[in-house]
This record gives sequence, structure tokens and C-alpha cells, in this order.
Amino acid sequence: MTGTANGRGGTAAAPWRGEPGDTDTLLGRPAVGYLDEAAETLAAVKREILRKLAPEPGHRMLDVGCGNGTDVLELAGRVAPSGEAVGVDVNERAIEEALARSAGTGVPAAFATANAYALPFPDGRFDACRAERIVQHLADPVGAISEMVRVTRPGGRVLVADPDHGMWAPDLDDREAVRTVLTWWFDNIRNPWIGRRLPGLLRAAGLAEVQVTMMPVVLDGIAAADSLTGFGDAVRRAGELGVLPGARARALTRQIAAREADGGFLMFGAMIIAEGRKEG
Ligand SMILES: C[S@@+](CC[C@H](N)C(=O)[O-])C[C@H]1O[C@@H](n2cnc3c(N)ncnc32)[C@H](O)[C@@H]1O
Repeated sequence: MTGTANGRGGTAAAPWRGEPGDTDTLLGRPAVGYLDEAAETLAAVKREILRKLAPEPGHRMLDVGCGNGTDVLELAGRVAPSGEAVGVDVNERAIEEALARSAGTGVPAAFATANAYALPFPDGRFDACRAERIVQHLADPVGAISEMVRVTRPGGRVLVADPDHGMWAPDLDDREAVRTVLTWWFDNIRNPWIGRRLPGLLRAAGLAEVQVTMMPVVLDGIAAADSLTGFGDAVRRAGELGVLPGARARALTRQIAAREADGGFLMFGAMIIAEGRKEG
């Protein structure tokens, strides 16, 4: 793992890897399990993305950074029997997992190991293209979005969804300490504020009728917050690494536990869904 200088007296091991292919583990857990849990937590977001893409039988759909292939299989069921849903991911293990899950399902799903910056498809191949929670990690979001636009047919839709990590709001009293932990933890992600940039990026990529939707992400309980964001761990590590004075981090950890005992710790944030139509 690479280290990220945090500028507060220590170097934090990055919990999220920002480079393509570095995603075998996420928050210290195997990526396969992490993505399945995240898919449950973000089920409403995924449903909304599906609704916006409006897949119909015969459509050809692409999911860039498809991970375990969950969304591709869902799309494939909608575009069957004559259409096709394709998932690509730079991570070979993710593609192996997706292929294993699609085997025997009978739905028209295909998967390939490929980089978002160089999609192995001709221009205009797809009716719609989606990318969920990948652009936040990319060094070149513009390059990836341009590729999505290229492989989408004129009139087709391009949809990008990412969190905005500047919006996490945990229910704790020590605002200064919370702000310090959140900034340090989520700055490990290459583009932590990408959510608010997405509509502008889609317009700059030449898409028309760009729409933006903000979906709440409600993490009800420390288990849910830890599962998606590793927040409890972030507080502990902030104390260990000197991002926060140890006593202050321990006090924050105690307050999380107290909140949890007293009706439940809550943390919320947002996913931003931006979509547009390719002109022509
Ligand atoms: C947080 S996961 C999201 C996976 C999936 N979209 C989902 O919603 O479950 C991000 C995915 O993007 C993939 N990824 C990262 N950089 C990539 C790149 N340059 N090209 C293709 N995939 C990439 C990772 O391997 C990982 O599977």
C-alpha cells in the first residue's frame, strides 16, 4: 500500500487505493465482500440509477468499473433476450468474480478486463454507459468520461455516480475533531469532492441535457458507518497516527459508543448521480 502524508504529524496507510488495479482490498477487507455490503447499503441509489438508464429489451449497456458485476447482471436481465450488458473492470479478480456469478444465469452479460481510459469497444457501441463509484479514484476523470462518451451512440445516455466525501455528517459533538478526521480520512481518496464536479465534467465532455440528482446515504449505526466508510477505524487510527491527539481520538471513540448505546449512532452523506445525453 502507498502512504499518504497527512500533514498532521504522521503518514496514514491509504484505506482506498487510487490507482487502477489496486482494489483487491478495500478498507482492509477483500474487495468482493466490501462491494457486496456496499451494494446493500446503496440499494436505493442503484435502483435510481437503473430507473434513469431505463434499460429495455434489445439495449446494449456498459458498466465501467463493474466490480463484482452486480449491476451488469441486473441490466442484463432487463435487456434480454436480444440486448447485452457488458461490464469492464481493470481488476482481473473482480472480472473473475463477475464471470463466476454470471455463469448459468442465462442472461446476456459479458465481462472483460479493461481500463476505463481505453475501452476496447468501437465508437457508438452502446445505448447507455454507467460508472458508479469509480471516477472518485481516477487520476484522469476527464479521460475516463470522454471514453464513456465515445463508446455511447449519438442519442444515448452516459451516467456517472459518485459520493461527495465532503458531505459526511456523523452525529458527534466535537466538531473540530470530527472535521479533522473526516478531512484526513477522505483525502486518501484521489478525488474526494468529485460528486459536486460531475455535472460540470459531463457538460465539458459535450453531453447535453445534463441532470444531477443527489441521493441520501443514511448509515444508521456504527456498523453501517464502518462498513461503508471505515469511520470508526478512522477515528482510532487518527489517534494512533497523531492526526488527532490520542486522548481526543479516544474521547471521540467513546462518544461513538455512547451514541450507539443511546438510540444509535447516525452518519449521513450523499451520492451524486449525473447523467447526460450524447448529441448527434
Ligand atoms: C468502489 S468499486 C465500485 C464497483 C461497482 N461499480 C459497484 O458499484 O459495486 C470501484 C471499481 O472501479 C474499478 N476501477 C478502478 N480504476 C479503474 C480503471 N482505471 N478502469 C476500470 N476500472 C477501474 C475498481 O477495480 C473497482 O472494481
